[in-house]
Amino acid sequence: MRFLVTGAAGLMGSHTVDRLLAEGHEVIGVDSYITGRREFLAYASANPRFTLIVGDLFDFTTVIEACEGVDAVFHFAANTDVRYGTDYPRRDLDQNVIVTWNILEAMRRRDIKTILTTLLPTPEDGPLPIQTSLQSASKLAAEAFISAYAQGYGIRALIFRFAAVVGERCTHGHLFDFCRQLHAHPDQLHVLGDGAVRRSYIDVADCVDAMLLALHHPTSPVEVFNVGSLTPCELTESIGWIASALNIQPAIEYSGPGPAWVGSCPVIYLDCTKLHRLGWQPKLDPEAAVRRTVHYLAANPWLLEPRA
Ligand SMILES: NC(=O)c1ccc[n+]([C@@H]2O[C@H](COP(=O)([O-])OP(=O)(O)OC[C@H]3O[C@@H](n4cnc5c(N)ncnc54)[C@H](O)[C@@H]3O)[C@@H](O)[C@H]2O)c1
Repeated sequence: MRFLVTGAAGLMGSHTVDRLLAEGHEVIGVDSYITGRREFLAYASANPRFTLIVGDLFDFTTVIEACEGVDAVFHFAANTDVRYGTDYPRRDLDQNVIVTWNILEAMRRRDIKTILTTLLPTPEDGPLPIQTSLQSASKLAAEAFISAYAQGYGIRALIFRFAAVVGERCTHGHLFDFCRQLHAHPDQLHVLGDGAVRRSYIDVADCVDAMLLALHHPTSPVEVFNVGSLTPCELTESIGWIASALNIQPAIEYSGPGPAWVGSCPVIYLDCTKLHRLGWQPKLDPEAAVRRTVHYLAANPWLLEPRA
């Protein structure tokens, strides 16, 4: 098959590209490198079945050209920065809603019938809660467009709601921020909030497994899957794993009670029964996933340096 992977140079995108190539598929990757890294595509770029388009998916011409001859789309390109959303009120609308619409409209024009994407971590079949960040509001709008295009134009949409994804090539999120801080100052760590938030960290390779399993399984035209680990952990616990993986004992300073920032979610722990019924189980538990990420970042300190 010929796949389009948007956000190909990001965490989810680059792992998905590698996996699809390893399975013998042809892959078109698109990335603007706004947060992605060309180094993450080093393996893929050596493969003649991989084509990279460096461009912004906000530009519809780029999208329609990228979609030529494509059988299915993995859509990962997005503004993944939740924390500073309120500083740039238009960014989530452009990056998450308009870009998603561009993809859907190009799929309609190119007669592409399958999209796999990742949206809000909420109950698979429950009512959507009040949105607290501009990013989650834009994801909600994008999901609405996806389901309406699916119904209107016969597109199969597989929507994945990930918990906190970590792993090799991770370049954002609090785990990355902690590693960056500790890289600069191994003896101290400043943590926003009181450390009581809970996350069910999931390794990126387990996420790719889940997506490919669902792709090859019969589903409803619009199907939502939660993807997370079996057990959540508190932030303080994961800080212990990070310190232990780095063999350091930093002094930890918490900024205080309450949410770390507007839109920060106190608990992300997803019911993944639907995927378990298909036979999916994460290979790494949260501790192993966190440790793998920390070891990777320690071995790739260039990622922790301020970006040029
Ligand atoms: N990592 C997580 O913990 C997590 C959790 C839940 C959901 N998700 C979602 O999964 C998706 C992928 O996340 P990720 O962790 O791989 O993020 P990432 O930042 O590593 O990758 C996103 C990629 O998209 C590219 N991109 C962004 N806007 C673009 C544009 N307009 N045109 C071209 N390229 C563009 C970036 O350069 C980057 O390479 C996002 O929708 C994210 O919200 C991630």
